[in-house]
Amino acid sequence: MLPAGFKKHGAKLLLRFLGIAMCGIIGVLTKEGNAGKLAYEGIKRLDYRGYDSWGIAVKGSGLSIYKRTGKIGSIPNKLLQGSIAIAHTRWATHGKISVRNAHPHLSQNGKIAVVHNGVIENFQELRDFLAEKGFVFKSDTDSEVIPMLIEMYLEEGCSFREAVRKALLHLKGSYAIVAIYEPEHIMIGAKNASPLVVGLSDGRVLFASDLQAIAPYAEEAIFLSDLELVEASPEIKIYNIESGLSIKKLPKKIDINLCYADKKGFEHYMLKEIYEQEQAIINASAQNESLLNKVVESIKSANKVFIIGCGTSRHAAMLASYMFAKISKLNASALLASEFPNFANLIDEKTVIIALSQSGETADVLEAVRAAKRKGAKIISIVNVMGSSLMQISDINLMMNAGPEVCVLATKSYLAQLAILYLIANHLIGNTEQAKKELAEAAKKVPIIIKKNERKAKLLASKLKNTSSIFVIGKNACSITALEGALKIKEVSYIHAEGYASAELKHGPIALIEKNVPVIVFAPDASDESITNAIEAKSRGALIIGVSTERAKCFDYFFNVPCKELFPILSIIPIQLLAYYLALERGLDPDKPRNLAKSVTVK
Ligand code: F6R
Repeated sequence: MLPAGFKKHGAKLLLRFLGIAMCGIIGVLTKEGNAGKLAYEGIKRLDYRGYDSWGIAVKGSGLSIYKRTGKIGSIPNKLLQGSIAIAHTRWATHGKISVRNAHPHLSQNGKIAVVHNGVIENFQELRDFLAEKGFVFKSDTDSEVIPMLIEMYLEEGCSFREAVRKALLHLKGSYAIVAIYEPEHIMIGAKNASPLVVGLSDGRVLFASDLQAIAPYAEEAIFLSDLELVEASPEIKIYNIESGLSIKKLPKKIDINLCYADKKGFEHYMLKEIYEQEQAIINASAQNESLLNKVVESIKSANKVFIIGCGTSRHAAMLASYMFAKISKLNASALLASEFPNFANLIDEKTVIIALSQSGETADVLEAVRAAKRKGAKIISIVNVMGSSLMQISDINLMMNAGPEVCVLATKSYLAQLAILYLIANHLIGNTEQAKKELAEAAKKVPIIIKKNERKAKLLASKLKNTSSIFVIGKNACSITALEGALKIKEVSYIHAEGYASAELKHGPIALIEKNVPVIVFAPDASDESITNAIEAKSRGALIIGVSTERAKCFDYFFNVPCKELFPILSIIPIQLLAYYLALERGLDPDKPRNLAKSVTVK
């Protein structure tokens, strides 16, 4: 993962700055002899985690390795077989993308193969230490120290499991690894601060960065916590990495519908996931009553409530703070997870943190939550990915149940988060049944909103495809919808877009309004105050795109969202569609925008 010659501090800072190591890993041990095929198919489902190089190691009569740069392509047929296989897909913003730096990495004797996701912060010291012992490195990565350390301990007479465990004790940083050793029918997976899940089926064991990659081949799953190591032979034994003591964990049944995605005939996941928002609201609203009660009890006995998240999840947090204030008269401040340390002085044992994260693996969120936990705060999380780190470290977890979100852009998870937060806000005042009815109505509106607006979004996208800047405004809760609308447009179409509370326009940004600059306004109706601000922009030549329940005179284009009650939530849909079609008009892949990855697992 790292270029040669990086000094330890420089390398560490650069890694943190650039956000590297959001790779995908997989491991398969089967009795059917098709481990290579399953690992290859699984890694293709993880390519959203990285797509600059990839590789696979298959154990048949010996160890065969195949590595390539670029997106995952085909592999030779003979590699589809084997009893054990491990595979890796990589994403990096710096360092040489090369075959020799692609995983799996081998030990010096070529008998141990390892795939790794994470960052070994003390890799340089370890390389120096191993080099002194005569180990010669073939790649420039931090990861290669792992198979070398394992080999060192095997040479000292340790068992394979003990050699892996002892090797891991040297590592500072984050890792999820899968390791295999050619002479033995054993596969070992382990994790610390990077995701790894175990899938099980009759005589088959799978490791993966997320459940989605292996769900079609597993019936049950075990969700690992940090510092856990699993030996699969195919019998499963779990150990704590630090103590070496064995741990008992029961597998959970996998609901394939909630963790396996295909495009179901849509050209892109983004469009499919926009369409799935009806079901996402229905699923998210079906929360277990006793869990909701626990959430409400915790909030009521707290003296402070903070809602945290990053990106789109942060927008959901901000919108929720409006809902809590309006519906439940509760002051729940929304904080950006990465800025949380500035507010750490406010946290104590009477604080409740509501942490929002689709992936449940966002490093900034996890760090904020861990800091809050250390101060005794209670953690309520809302996540979509089953078994994720956030879910595991929370006191109470509510699942979004939105199904896998594969497109890098968050769409259905945003609506799912908001549906749950709306439910909590209403549960706090005993209005749950009414809220459930409203959410059921809102879900029914999703296909109507798509039907009314998709063609219009497509047409408008062809008109706006060469525009250089778009402004998005809204008042009250819609000021947050404006932020989310601008984020959707910029990240997928690469058109500069900014969101504002509409009244803020005249405090500065209006200086940028000139002839034909598009201004999108979210206005629940034609008499909303934001319309005044839209008119102010129109007087300076702006092209006004209204998203509303009714057409206002100043609109040059009109997206009709016939839902007044939950308007700030549902009105994002036409702009998700506009963003999608802008990406297509500009020849871009909406599912994999440049420089982004679905799980931002580093700071
Ligand atoms: C935007 C987007 C990101 C994520 C952010 C947090 O479309 O996808 O801004 O919302 O990276 O991700 P989670 O929710 O997984 O913590």
